[in-house]
Order: sequence, then C-alpha cells, then structure tokens
Amino acid sequence: MCGIVGYIGSGKQEKILVDMLKHLDYRGYDSAGIAVIKQNQQNSLTCKIDVTKTKGKLNSLEQLLKNSNKIPKNKFLVKDDFNTEELQKQIETINELNEADDVNSTCGIGHTRWATHGEATTQNAHPHLSNNNEWAIVHNGIIENFQELKEELINNKFTFKSKTDSEIVVNLLQLNTDQDNKLPTITPLIETCKKLKGSYALAALNKNFKNTLFLARKKSPLYVAKSKKTIVVASDPICFAGKTKEYYSLNDNEFCLCTGNKIEFYNLKNEVIEKTAEKLENLNQTKTKTSYKHFMQKEINEIPDVLKNIVKRYSTNNYLDILDKVFIKKFNKVVLIGCGTAYHAGLIGARYLQDLARIDASTSVASEFRYANPIIDNKTLVILVSQSGETADTIAVCEEANKKGCTTLALTNVEYSTLAKLAKITMPLCAGTEIAVASTKAYVAQVAVLYLIASKLSNELLNKNINFLENLQKLSDQIIIPTKQDFITLVDEISKKQTAFFIGRDYDYITCEEASLKLKEITYINSNAYPAGELKHGFLALIDESSYLFVIATKRDLLEKTLNGAYEAKARGANLIFASQFELENEVKKDFKHILQLPKVDENLAPLSSIVAFQVLAYLVCLKRKLNPDKPRNLAKSVTVE
Ligand code: M6R
Repeated sequence: MCGIVGYIGSGKQEKILVDMLKHLDYRGYDSAGIAVIKQNQQNSLTCKIDVTKTKGKLNSLEQLLKNSNKIPKNKFLVKDDFNTEELQKQIETINELNEADDVNSTCGIGHTRWATHGEATTQNAHPHLSNNNEWAIVHNGIIENFQELKEELINNKFTFKSKTDSEIVVNLLQLNTDQDNKLPTITPLIETCKKLKGSYALAALNKNFKNTLFLARKKSPLYVAKSKKTIVVASDPICFAGKTKEYYSLNDNEFCLCTGNKIEFYNLKNEVIEKTAEKLENLNQTKTKTSYKHFMQKEINEIPDVLKNIVKRYSTNNYLDILDKVFIKKFNKVVLIGCGTAYHAGLIGARYLQDLARIDASTSVASEFRYANPIIDNKTLVILVSQSGETADTIAVCEEANKKGCTTLALTNVEYSTLAKLAKITMPLCAGTEIAVASTKAYVAQVAVLYLIASKLSNELLNKNINFLENLQKLSDQIIIPTKQDFITLVDEISKKQTAFFIGRDYDYITCEEASLKLKEITYINSNAYPAGELKHGFLALIDESSYLFVIATKRDLLEKTLNGAYEAKARGANLIFASQFELENEVKKDFKHILQLPKVDENLAPLSSIVAFQVLAYLVCLKRKLNPDKPRNLAKSVTVE
C-alpha cells in the first residue's frame, strides 16, 4: 500500500508528480503529497524543499496545488480516467510549456497514502521533512522498530510533527548526514536503513543537491527508469509507460543514487552493483472507464472477454505443458495460498484439484499459513494466487516455501510483479489491468486458470479427456451480466439493510464467501456467509423477520439439502433470495422473496458464472447507498504491508 514516485528533469514538477501519482492511487487514497526542491526567493544561491500535502484523495492535492498556483488552473486537468498515451501527450505538452518558466525546480517526490501508523490526516501525510528541513522522504511499508528509534531520536533532541513511523526515517537521514560532504552520496541512506526493521520503499531528496534522488528498497516494490533527460521513480512501472522503454527493479537491500540523468546502484555494503534493465512490456493497457461510470462496472462487463483472452493465451503458449504426470507425481501435497478474494479463488482451486484430478489439496490464508509452522518441503507444490503479485503475506509465504525447497507456482495478473519474479513457475491470469479495489474479473480469471490446471492434471493423471479450453470458450458466451432492471426491488431492499446472510454448500458456499465479501467491501453492510449445514450450529440465532438470506444452489445433488437449510431460516422469519441455475417448482418458488436466475452452465464451471450476479448486486447496492464502488473506505488495491 502507499504509492511513491520521484522525478528528475525539466518541466513543471508538481504537475508531473501528480500525473504520475494518478497511476498509483490504487495503492491508497487516505492522503497525498509532493515535495519539490525550489530556489530560495530571498537568496537565489540556496534552495528549499517545498511540500504540498493534504488528507483525502489525489484530486484534493491537485485542487490545493491549483489554488496555490503551483499547477496551471485551467490547463490539463488530470482526469480520473486516462490512458497512458493520452497522459504522455499531456506531460510532453506541459513540459514544453513550462520548461522556460520553471528552471528552478529540478526534482521532486510524491506519495499517495494508505494509513498504517497515524490517522489519515494532513499532518500524517507524506512527504515528511527532517527537523533541519534539509531532507524530505516518502515511504511505502512499515518500520517495525519505529517506537524504539523514535525514542533514540527524541533523546537526541529531535521533535516529531506526525504520528507516522516514516518520520523517523527522515530524521535518521539528518542524523547520518555528514554536513561537510559537498557531493551527494548514498551513505546516509544506507546507514539509516541498517537501523530499520520491517519493510520499505523509500525515495528521498536533499535541498543541497538540486537534481538528486536517493532510493532504497526492502520488501516493498520500487522501480527506476531513465530517458535522455529525465529519471523517473515509482512503486509500479506502469508510471513509466510512454516515458521509457526499459526500467530497473530494485531488489531487497539495494539502493540507488540518481543524479542528473545518471543512475547508480549500491548494496548494503555501499559497493556499486550492476543491474540489468528490464523491458517495459505489457504496460500499454488502457486505464479508461470508456462509457462506464465506474471501473468496477467496466471490469465486471469485461469478464466474458477475460475468459476468451485466457483461452487465447493458454492455447498459444505452453504454460500448462509443465503439468505432466512426472511433474505432479513429485509432490505429496498441494497447498494453495491467497488473501481475500484470491484466497476464495484458492478454495475453489483446491476443490477442482480434488474433484477433477483426485489430488489432495488444501487452501490457506497467507497471513495464517506463514505463522502456522507449516509442514512443507521439496515434495510440496505451493500455488500462490494473487491479482497484484505484490501482496506482502503471499510474497512472504512464497519466500519461505522457496527456502524450504518447495516448488512455487504463482498465478498473477501482473506479470512483472514481485511474486511473478519470486516463484519458480508463473502463470498469467490475463485479466488486464484491474483498477477497482473490489476484485471482480481477476477473481473469475483466477478460478478459470485453476480450472485449467486441475483439468490438465486430470487428463494427465486419470487419463481423462477434458476439453478445458473449449469449455472455457463456451462459458465465455454463456455468462450473463445482469442489468439494473434485473435487480430493481432487491437492490432497494438490501440497500436499507445493515446485515445480510449467504448460505450454500460445497462450491456454492465458497461463492457465498466471495459474494458476501464483495457486498461488505463496497456497501459496508455487515454480510456473512455460512455453509448451509451450519445454520443450526449457531448462526440461526441471528435470524429474525428482518433478515435477508441469500441461498446459492448450483449443484443439482445438493439442491434439496440446501433448500432444507433455507426453510429452517424461513421458519424463523428470514426473507429468502434464491440464486440458482435450476428452475424451482411454482409451489416452492412462493417461499422465496426474490429469485435470481443464474446462467445454465456446466456445473463444474458454475463458480465462474454464478459470482457475476453478486458482483453486479454489490455494485448496484453500493450506488444506491451513494458510495464510490472503486474506492471503498479504508481499503487499497494492493496490500504491500502485512
Ligand atoms: O492482489 P491480491 O490478489 O493478492 O489481493 C488479495 C486481496 O487483497 C484482494 O483480493 C482483496 O480481498 C480484494 N479487495 C477483494 O475484492
């Protein structure tokens, strides 16, 4: 979480930094800020650091900059909705227009925050300044020993303006700076980082070194790129699209000194290291909502195309070839790992492996698994599911699994992500950029790729002949995206509720978990999912006449049993909503307040199609409650801290 950017070059720094941050507000939107080096008006020989920051989303910062005339009021408003080419054109034009009148400002850093330590206030917003105002810093990560370091600094007469862990870093930089040094060096940052425990991507600037940026990375992503006249730094190379053709990715405990248009990398021993540039590929994805009102709505509507894309890429690449009999027979255990929605996809994946290939597989939440002293070794296949490929706990499991000799297989949507590089095998999700915090198309892609994996293994191990790519292709045409009209009264009723319940069995129970997560995540309704057989074991006590209970039933052989659970709730007053691909008898229909007809698909593929209705439902309820589905409160798209 938190996005950081840096820039050295000509042009209107403030505008360029904000434009780069626009790519990163998926990483947090509690506050935003920038710092640029400016010439001192009183004494043109000296410089100062000019910080502009505010709580709230990036457009609040933009407004503030406009009001203080730091960016043009009338030109090039950054839209919430842009594509990289368009953005690049804007930047180039702004550069041309401003180069002449803005020679003073040569480098800057920026930040978009997801609060960890200290509430979402302007004071806690980044960048932070050192006590002597010489250093400014932006940070993504968590400094675990900040309390102890803060006390040390307070004993050294330092004072603090914020409640963040990050402010100690900038003051340590001050403490580690040799004032006699007239040339910029990376030493103060290395010495500072030696004291830090936890995770960080750091970008710092010093007012005495006009065109210099200081960078460090440990467990939080950080990338740097250069073109002829500029250097750009960011938490995600998506920010470089249209600016450079290649970039460098910092590894843990690596540092970078950027001066003018020169980049130098260092290790923790302060030795210069060589790094190879990576190609900036697959980044020309459009980030526009086109005719849709929200990214979430657009992304749900893209689901059929995502499935087609998976079929195309998996039929023209050999990703699945590795999954032969010899490969799978090496393992006595398959473990699937993920967080949130990716965990739910992993649950479906384990069921697929069991049902289709008769492989005993289990799924764990990454943050639990890593502390549960898991029994894993070179006979374990660990499948890590992550849309972003940057989720801290999932990455930590992958690191641990690699250390223990397991075979790690990453399923990720971001092919240049940390996880993609870390895992021994990577398979792409092919969902295209997902912007909305609530994962929709990526979930379907995760389940779809897990279906391919399980089916391929089934063919290998059990001599089955599943035409998995054809099945997926067919499904892409069967998926139905419900419209507002399909849900009109239901949305009205649910949006007035404070609670909602979901029940289902087997795969449908997992769909219930995911549907319930979607609803609570963007509508703030306290919704909970239970296995239909668990009603009597406790949660029935919550049911009364005001309860709304969704019943998901896509498996013919479990239909009766699921309905029994629903009736038990109805007998206690619950309002039932039935969601199924099966038609109910007219007599039975009467027991349900609403019926959601799900598309008729192969039962094995129902988890892929049935969730769509609930994604749409959550979206519509969210709108009815006048909330922003793309940026729910307290959340961020990429969870890069534990
Ligand atoms: O990027 P990842 O797939 O690793 O993210 C995992 C979860 O943080 C994510 O799925 C989260 O639960 C979504 N916001 C749910 O919609």
